[in-house]
Order: sequence, then structure tokens, then C-alpha cells
Amino acid sequence: MDLEKQIFHFSELSKLEGNLQWDEIVGVLGGKGANLAKMTSLGLPVPPGFTITTNTCREFLAGNGKLSDHLKKEIKEALSHLEEETGKRLGGSPPLLVSCRSGAKFSMPGMMDTILNLGLNDDVAENFSKETGNRRFVYDSYRRLLQMFGSVVMGIDSEAFENKLAEAKEKRNVKSDTELGADDLYSLTEEFKRIISEHGHLFPQDPYEQIERAIESVFLSWNSKRAIDYREATGIPHHLGTAVNIVTMVFGNTGDNSGTGVAFTRDPATGQRVIFGEYMPNAQGEDVVAGIRTSESLDLLKKDMPEIYRELCESCQKLERYYKDMQDIEFTVEDGKLWILQTRSAKRTAKAAIKVATDMVKEGLKEREDALASVDPEAVKTLLHPYFKHEEKKAALSNGMLAATGLNTSPGAAVGIACFSSAQAQRLAAKSPVVLINKNLQPDDIHGMLASVGLITSEGGATSHAAVVARQFGIPCVSAVPDLEISPDKDSCILGGRHIKEGDWLSVDGSSGEIFIGKLPTEKPTIEEQEDLLTILR
Ligand SMILES: Nc1ncnc2c1ncn2[C@@H]1O[C@H](COP(=O)(O)OP(=O)(O)OP(=O)(O)O)[C@@H](O)[C@H]1O
Ligand SMILES: [Mg+2]
Repeated sequence: MDLEKQIFHFSELSKLEGNLQWDEIVGVLGGKGANLAKMTSLGLPVPPGFTITTNTCREFLAGNGKLSDHLKKEIKEALSHLEEETGKRLGGSPPLLVSCRSGAKFSMPGMMDTILNLGLNDDVAENFSKETGNRRFVYDSYRRLLQMFGSVVMGIDSEAFENKLAEAKEKRNVKSDTELGADDLYSLTEEFKRIISEHGHLFPQDPYEQIERAIESVFLSWNSKRAIDYREATGIPHHLGTAVNIVTMVFGNTGDNSGTGVAFTRDPATGQRVIFGEYMPNAQGEDVVAGIRTSESLDLLKKDMPEIYRELCESCQKLERYYKDMQDIEFTVEDGKLWILQTRSAKRTAKAAIKVATDMVKEGLKEREDALASVDPEAVKTLLHPYFKHEEKKAALSNGMLAATGLNTSPGAAVGIACFSSAQAQRLAAKSPVVLINKNLQPDDIHGMLASVGLITSEGGATSHAAVVARQFGIPCVSAVPDLEISPDKDSCILGGRHIKEGDWLSVDGSSGEIFIGKLPTEKPTIEEQEDLLTILR
């Protein structure tokens, strides 16, 4: 086999398996690519696609910042193979649309870039609308592409697009993106193209150019500030580079019979053996993971599409049994058909890590030594993080100190002064523990999150990347707080009807989702209270 090959289709895993160990394959294809290929060979419903290797990224980053002619040729060949596999054509009918996704050897949740719906342009959108008879879906996809391409490839602040979207919703007096109609979304695509040209760019109509530029940007996102910050904090080497995955698009936004979500095979906060996740009908994956929308629990999928829910649970079990570890799975339902878009070892709190390890030994899924090795000793320290004493909380409740309640997305107790931006959190953290309050937390906020003892957001759910990272680092977090309005100057907020300014003390209970005014006393647990830890060590 030619190990110098730069591109591997998901169906070509066996070529690598004959020559390399799994860990080496993950090094070549990145975790996302290797697992997509593995899921394909396990017979799970994965859309066809291919992976450009991490080695190619390293060469690209060492070069002149442009794809080599040789690589462009290989990409074209891989794309025509994909056209044959899917019976769709780039720029043609039915159109092949793809996503361009990062994916390094070690998972870095949301720290690099992804662009969805590549291949759409003005003509394709018009034709595709006629073919599908679903103009709303097509222009919803197109406006998403323009926003992602504009921000990722052209470096335009995403807020410029988000603000226009907010204006469109205000104009229609609706709360959710899904309530916008085809005409609204068409107008948004025109507005978005205008934003792009105001910033001195032109959206490329050629699908190949779109894909090539997306690949360059995803390679470059390996060296984005947030990716570097995350690697610093987790000890991932800086020289590895990311693979790029080109994946045929499947659509969660075609209507009520479609949707997207994330499922953890066990609860990532507690380790309980229950499928835990979030679902958003009529949406694309980015809405759930980016933390800028608030999704529903998986119960909604169970209620609306019981067959799909059952199939999802079966896939979860299959993957957990295969990998012998708790998984974090992204899925999309397109017109009543389930697709799996990603699986990876799930990030979890230390408490969950120990519970999962202990349970997996009991279930016969893991040997005791492997289970023990799966628990990060650094993370175990967070088990001894303080909690609020029950009586103190009761007293605070009766004294009217409870300001608001949100979703308990990362457990633990935090007491710190309020602040409203990541930059400010970093500055103030030198003097005092900080609670960072933001509308949402995105991967760009990683430095602010790591500087804070607690986090509060008005948007975003438990499976967003921010929540995943908060749990991984043991930072208590309360999300989707309904009564939270941050001032435009970002120096104060209204929280549950109370005015909170920068520097005011708050107590955040990430286990219950409660936020209290002032400093609540905390207590440290003892090692004797850690029953699961003691069990696994015995
Ligand atoms: N081909 C596709 N069809 C439908 N949805 C897709 C496709 N490719 C990616 N997605 C969805 O888009 C979202 C973002 O993709 P991706 O997984 O590449 O990045 P991420 O989740 O933001 O970061 P990472 O997985 O690297 O931590 C995910 O919800 C994913 O499931
Ligand atoms: Mg992902």
C-alpha cells in the first residue's frame, strides 16, 4: 500500500488496517476520519466521504499556505469518486453538497473549523429548489454556507451574519430560525452576500474553488488562537496537524421529519448508564454543538420518531461495545432516515470517569487495569472540588438570594466575581476568582473559560462544545438561563430581575443549575466520600 497517499475514502480503511495499528491509523486520518471509516466498515449509516491525511496538513503548514497542484488533482479525483458513489454531481443535478471538517489525532471539541453545504451557489440553489420543491430548506442551507464561508474562510466576524439573522426574526416577530420562511431565507442569502462584498470579498460560485479554499482554511485552523490555547491546556503537541474530512451532506433541515443532535452513551456529568443527549428538529448540526441555540432533550426525538430513537440507541450500544468506552455521537435525521456523523470517546467529569470505569468493569466491557488507566489522575483532583453545604443553600433560598436557575451543564460549586467577556475574565482572574457571564460561550472563549472558576450563559445546551470543555476541566457551568440580559457595554447584566455589575460576587451551583447572589460558604469533600474512586482503587 502507498503510505504516501494523501487521501483515503471512508471505504478504504482496510488498506491501512493491513499495515498499521489503530493508534497509528488515528495519527494518519485523525480521530474523526478514522472513526468515520471504522463506522462505515461496521455497517453504520455514515454518509460517503474521504479524509485528507494529517501528514498533508503538516506539509501544507510548512509550505506557502496554498494547496499544491498535486493535492488539488488528488482532491478532484476523490470528488469524482464521491460523485459516482452518490450519483450526485458537484454543481449539477442532483447536486453533490459536502462538508469540510477538521479532525486531529486527539479530539479538540469545536476548536477548529468546519464548513457545511459546500457546493451550493446561486444557480445550484435555484435548480435544487425546483427539484426538491423545498425552497425553504435550500435557502436555509445556502445562508448557512455563506455565513460559515464568510467567517471561516474570509475572516468576517460571525456576529455580522448573526445580527442580520436576528433582525430577520425580529421583523417577522418570531423567536426561532425555523419560523423563517423561504422568502426570508432567500433575502438573508442576498444580505449575506452583501456583507461579504462589503468586506472586500466575493463568494466563489465554483464548487471546486469553494472546497479548495475551505480545505486550506481548515488546515490553517490548526493554528488558530483557540486551538493553540486548548492544546496548551491539554498538553496536545503542536506539531501534529489536523486531517480534513470531506463528507457528503445529509440534511437535518428539510422540515419537521428531520433534525440533528448529539447523544452521549452515558451521562457525561454523572456517568449514569442512560443515553443522554440533545435534539433540535429542522436544524443543522452546528446549531447544537456551537452553543448558540438551545436544543431540546432526546425525549423529543423519542416522542416524535420512536423508530429513529430506537435505531440511535442501538447504534450507541454498538459503538460503546466496539470501542469499549463511553461515546459522544453526532447524528442527523434526514426525512426520517438516521445518519451518524461522528463518534469519539466522550469527555466527562472526573466523577463520571470513575463511575463509567467502575461500571464497565462490572459489565465485563473493560479489564480493571484498563479501567483504572482510563481515569486521568489530573481530573481526579476535581473530585475534591468544593460544594455548597445543603443548609447554607437552604438559608440562601429563604433569604431570597437565588437570582436565577438554568441548565446544570457542568457540575460543582463556584464563587467568584461577575465579569462579562473572556478578555476581562483573563485580566480580573489575576486578582480574584471570576465567574464569566456571556450570552453564549464559543470555542473562541476557551482562554476566558480556563481563567474562570464558574460560567453562566443565556444560550447553549449540555452537549455544546463549551459544556463539553467545561466538564472536561471541571469548571461549574449553568447554561440557557432564561432571565439573563447582558448590557451592550458588557459591564453589567440583569439576572432574574436583579442588576449585577462587574465585580459583584456570585455563587454558581453547576450541579443544580442555581445561581445565588453573594458568597455562599463551600465545603470540601473528603476522599472517604468518593465511593466509586475507592472501589476502583481497591
Ligand atoms: N456531511 C454532513 N452532513 C450533515 N451534518 C454534518 C456534516 N458534516 C458535519 N455535520 C455536522 O456539523 C456540525 C459540525 O461538524 P464537525 O463535527 O466537523 O465540527 P464540530 O463538531 O464543530 O467540532 P469537532 O467535531 O471537531 O469537535 C456537527 O454537528 C456535525 O454533525
Ligand atoms: Mg463534531
